[in-house]
Amino acid sequence: MVIAIDGPAASGKSSTAAAVARVLGAYHLDSGALYRTLTRVALDAHTRDPEAILQAAARRGVALAEHGAELMPLLDGGLAESRIRSPEVTGLVSEVSAMPTLREWVNMQLRAAARPDRTLVLDGRDIGTVVFPAAATKIFLTASPEARARRRLVQRGDAPDEAAVAVEAARLVERDRADSVRPVAPLKRAPDATVVDTTDMSFDQQVSAIVDLVRRGLPEPC
Ligand code: CDP
Repeated sequence: MVIAIDGPAASGKSSTAAAVARVLGAYHLDSGALYRTLTRVALDAHTRDPEAILQAAARRGVALAEHGAELMPLLDGGLAESRIRSPEVTGLVSEVSAMPTLREWVNMQLRAAARPDRTLVLDGRDIGTVVFPAAATKIFLTASPEARARRRLVQRGDAPDEAAVAVEAARLVERDRADSVRPVAPLKRAPDATVVDTTDMSFDQQVSAIVDLVRRGLPEPC
């Protein structure tokens, strides 16, 4: 069973999806982490050619691995996580993730991870629209650009003063624009997704709102 959580940049999808998975005893997979890992590989190999990126990724052992209840990308035999959140990666990831060949490769990894013996909470941009259009529950998680910018600054340990919030909000809006206008798998709400606007919600409130939606969509309580 797949629970799809899509939404714009820094809407809290990954941390929310991880917490929802914990409550449900499910696995969590952040699909953006795979795009970020391919971006890291593209930067290191100084190439923007999708075939060359995939070859370099294969050489460096990019694949998903279980890390507790998280399915996370491996790079060079260890978790990629600490190497994929830099501004350099964030600045290029929309360009890399717009390449159809790379999207097909990522989608293959995501579909292989959805084994029948697992409940999987997956977050991204196109999970409910393209990757798993028959997902059991679809959520579109959003918040105002300012709320998202404030959270991202706090997450990074930066002061969320007015000027910093304005700069970060503009960056997020630009990444959303790039993700929304690309021809392949653009960021958009699936018509059957429930919108959860977290602008005025606490983290715990957004987690329980989604857990409730998942449980209501299930034939049996979990
Ligand atoms: O965490 P944040 O909201 O910054 O973004 P992310 O989930 O780490 O995703 C990084 C980038 O990967 C996005 O800006 C998209 O360009 C791309 N992405 C995508 O195209 N499709 C997905 N399913 C997930 C991410």
